[in-house]
Amino acid sequence: MAAILLCFLLAAPVLLVTSSPIHDSDNGTVPLVLWHGMGDSCCNPLSMGYIKKMIEQEIPGVYVLSVMIGKNIVEDTENGFFSDVNEQVSMVCNQLAQDPKLKGGYNAMGFSQGAQFLRAVAQRCPSPPMKNLISVGGQHQGVYGLPRCPGESSKICDMIREALNKEAYLGWFQKHLVQAQYWHDPLNDDLYKKYSRFLADINQERAVNETYKKNLQQLEKFVMVKFLQDSVVDPVDTEWFGFLKTGQAKETETLQESVLYKEDRLGLAAMDKAGKLVFLATEGDHLQFKEEWFKANLLPYLH
Ligand SMILES: *[C@@H]1O[C@H](CO)[C@@H](O)[C@H](O)[C@H]1NC(C)=O
Ligand SMILES: *[C@@H]1O[C@H](CO)[C@@H](O)[C@H](O)[C@H]1NC(C)=O
Repeated sequence: MAAILLCFLLAAPVLLVTSSPIHDSDNGTVPLVLWHGMGDSCCNPLSMGYIKKMIEQEIPGVYVLSVMIGKNIVEDTENGFFSDVNEQVSMVCNQLAQDPKLKGGYNAMGFSQGAQFLRAVAQRCPSPPMKNLISVGGQHQGVYGLPRCPGESSKICDMIREALNKEAYLGWFQKHLVQAQYWHDPLNDDLYKKYSRFLADINQERAVNETYKKNLQQLEKFVMVKFLQDSVVDPVDTEWFGFLKTGQAKETETLQESVLYKEDRLGLAAMDKAGKLVFLATEGDHLQFKEEWFKANLLPYLH
C-alpha cells in the first residue's frame, strides 16, 4: 500500500510561475522565512530559489531564509516525504531562534505542506515572533485523497483512499511518512483524533492547548491562498481551513461552519472578527500562479 501511495505522491509537481519584468519597490525589510512543499527543496532554482530572488528584487535589502530540512538538498527533498513532522518543526524552531537576523520578528510563507508546518511553528514557537503567515495552497485540515485522483468524482480513487484510511494512522506511517501525518479521514474520525500525531495536535482535536491559541493570535495576518483549479489537493477547501463533514466523504464545510471555529478551539474565530484572516483565491492548478498575481496580492503582506 505504501508503494501505491508514493507513486501518486511523486507525481506532484514543483512550483512553476510565469515571468514578467521587475519593477522597483520600497525598502521594507521585515525578514521572510520560506518553507517549501513536498517534492521540492529549499533551493530549487525553479521554485524556492526563484521566489526568493523575485522577492529580493522587489524588496531590496530584505533577508529571505528558505528553510532546509537536513544537511543538504537531497536530504531536504527526502525529508519532505519521510520524516517526523513534529521533529522537523522543532528543528526549524531552533534554526529560527538562533538566527540573529530574525530577532525582531519575521514574516513566513509556506508552500503546500510547508504552510501547515509553518503554522505549527507559529503555534509552538512564539520567539522570535511571526508577523504575517502566508499559506500558499496549504492543507490546514489535512487531505483525504491522492494527488490528481479526486475521490468525489472517481470510484477507483475513492476505493484507494478508503483502503489507505486506517493504515495511515499506524505507528510507522505516522512517524515516517510525512503525508500520513496530515491524512484526515472523515470516515474514521476517532482514529484521526487519536492517532494523528501532527495535524490532530496542532488543530486541537484532542485537547485545547491554550498556548497554541494564544500564540496563533499573535499573528498580524493569516493569509490563505486557494487554487481554483487545484487537482492535487483533495479536498481543496482545506486550503481555506475547510474540510469534509465528519462521517462521510462528499459534502464539505467551511472553516466558519466547523466545530473548530464555533467552539473557537484555536482562536480562529477571534482572529476572523479582528480582521486577521485573509482568504485569497487564484486561478490555476496547485501552486501555479502568475508572477503578477503574486506581486499584486502577496507582496503587500511582506512589508
Ligand atoms: C535598504 O536595503 C539595504 C540593503 O540593500 C540595507 O542596507 C538598508 O539598511 C535598507 N534600508 C532601510 C531603511 O531599511
Ligand atoms: C501546549 O503547547 C506548548 C507549546 O508547544 C507545549 O510546550 C505544552 O507542553 C503543550 N501543553 C499541553 C498540555 O500539551
